[in-house]
Amino acid sequence: MSGIRPTGFLHLGNYFGAVRNYVRMQESYTCYFMVADLHALTTLTETRELKNHVRRVLAENIASGLDPEKVALYCQSHVPETAELYLLLNMLAYKGELEKTPTFKEKVRLHPNNVNMGLLTYPVLQAADILLQRATLVPVGKDQEQHLEMARNYAGRFNQRYGEVFPEPYAFNFGESLIKVPSLDGAGKMSKSENQMATLYLADDDETIRNKIKKAKTDSGAPGGDMPESVANLFLLLELVCSQDVVDKFRADYQAGTVRYGDMKKELAEGMVAFISPIREKAEQIRNDDSYLRKVMEEGAAKARANAAATLQLAKEAMGLNYFAKI
Ligand code: TRP
Repeated sequence: MSGIRPTGFLHLGNYFGAVRNYVRMQESYTCYFMVADLHALTTLTETRELKNHVRRVLAENIASGLDPEKVALYCQSHVPETAELYLLLNMLAYKGELEKTPTFKEKVRLHPNNVNMGLLTYPVLQAADILLQRATLVPVGKDQEQHLEMARNYAGRFNQRYGEVFPEPYAFNFGESLIKVPSLDGAGKMSKSENQMATLYLADDDETIRNKIKKAKTDSGAPGGDMPESVANLFLLLELVCSQDVVDKFRADYQAGTVRYGDMKKELAEGMVAFISPIREKAEQIRNDDSYLRKVMEEGAAKARANAAATLQLAKEAMGLNYFAKI
């Protein structure tokens, strides 16, 4: 089970860090992938764009290979059982613990005028998403470790207090998926919010891709010495989308001090165009297909709700919230 924030516009880092993992998991596990629209409300005060973001994120995940026939792909707000389990889990969540959570403190810093209870209890809602499906494996990045630990704590507390209902969830990754996709400006990773010129989006058109790569940082071309980070990053990107032959050729050129960055960027740009354009075109087609998107959301919600209802029943029985049978 995992949650996808509806920020719209997936980039290459999301693709190699998250989506590719989901696509692999769908072949061997029962999967629940959810668009975390309610979590988005903890910081959004203006929701006019939310609908577009949700539709885009669904379309881009499907275009990247996520198959709604194989997995439950749904929106959080379409599964009202989430809210009910969230309420029950709130009894196991200590205020002091929530106030100490680094993600909470960070958001207080960023939005000092909107420190709402949704923000404080964000990890409880996330635990509800996970525990509702009784999930054990949660494909997420490093930044979510703390939230997963809290979900494990709530599961453990619940089980101890009321009886065994929830398995403990752990972060999951296929080994090589921990690849970080470097940004084009020579430092850090591709990210949604920072420099858009340094990030390649799955929605970028061919000219935009070529342009961004043309402007990517390299070095002065002086041979010898350690490879600067900006150049190492270009090689990492080249490895993601070009053949090994091409990568080897440019590595050899670099060693020999004869590398031509213009040629290398041209190869990289064509590799990226060949990789991104089919995803972009498919996503665009899906995004414009109302009846298909509706069907995906409805069927996804139906799968998620069936499992959720069974979990809730177990949880309420364990808590003694079953008053019809006299025993
Ligand atoms: N908090 C997660 C993020 O910021 C998104 C999320 C919401 C999530 N619910 C989840 C992730 C459940 C994993 C499981 O990316």
